[in-house]
Amino acid sequence: MASTITLAVTRYRPEEEAEPTVQSYTVPFRKDWVVLDALNHIKDTQDGTLSYRWSCRMGVCGSCGMMVNGSPKLTCAAFLSDYAPGPLRVEPLQFFPIIRDLVVDVGEFLHKLKKVKPWIVRAEEAPLSDGEYRQTPDELDAYKQFSMCINCMLCYAACPVVGLESNFVGPAAIALAQRYNLDSRDQGAPERLDLLSDHEGIWGCVFVGDCTKVCPKNVDPAGSIQQYKLTTAIDSLKSWLLPWGAR
Ligand code: SF4
Ligand code: FES
Repeated sequence: MASTITLAVTRYRPEEEAEPTVQSYTVPFRKDWVVLDALNHIKDTQDGTLSYRWSCRMGVCGSCGMMVNGSPKLTCAAFLSDYAPGPLRVEPLQFFPIIRDLVVDVGEFLHKLKKVKPWIVRAEEAPLSDGEYRQTPDELDAYKQFSMCINCMLCYAACPVVGLESNFVGPAAIALAQRYNLDSRDQGAPERLDLLSDHEGIWGCVFVGDCTKVCPKNVDPAGSIQQYKLTTAIDSLKSWLLPWGAR
């Protein structure tokens, strides 16, 4: 077994270069190291200028997403041993503007999340004296899967529609809308449908399904989008067949 492994890492220093370049670093090969360990080793011992995001190192914060050998991965969960003998490519998440090295601009992603009204919408709030809105375990189960998202953006880097159509609201935002639509306390589904019922919303998805394959939290954004489309189609059929509000 080789004692070292080489990483070909994207560098982009906007004050120095017009386009991203690639720099190779060789690090010790350890079976218990993930790609993030290798990047931290490079930063600590070889090149302190290398820039990238991370925080928790345990698949929770969602900040360490990068392309590893062309696939979106949480680098704190991608073992070097899966890429031996190397070299392996480490690049910023595709389809996002690069700010520096492996750091991408998340501004538009956050804007898209906010667009779907990711909060409990009520037509009328009950008075506080009525107590909390209670839910049964089954009601919680209806949306729990979609609430597991850590905003890592891997699904956006995997989605060919995001790559072609920058206005597409994207998989995590639609899964987030469903998280609230399916919440028994929420009454905002019609408002969200108005926002998402076009080619920049649910109808932009062509069901490639790679978003679900790369999701580290099994959120299944592709499934949420198809579920959303089905509910919308049934609602519109009902309104066509029962135009007097008898549905
Ligand atoms: S849906 Fe999955 S892949 Fe997409 S941002 Fe959320 S956790 Fe990440
Ligand atoms: S460092 Fe937090 S998810 Fe990887």
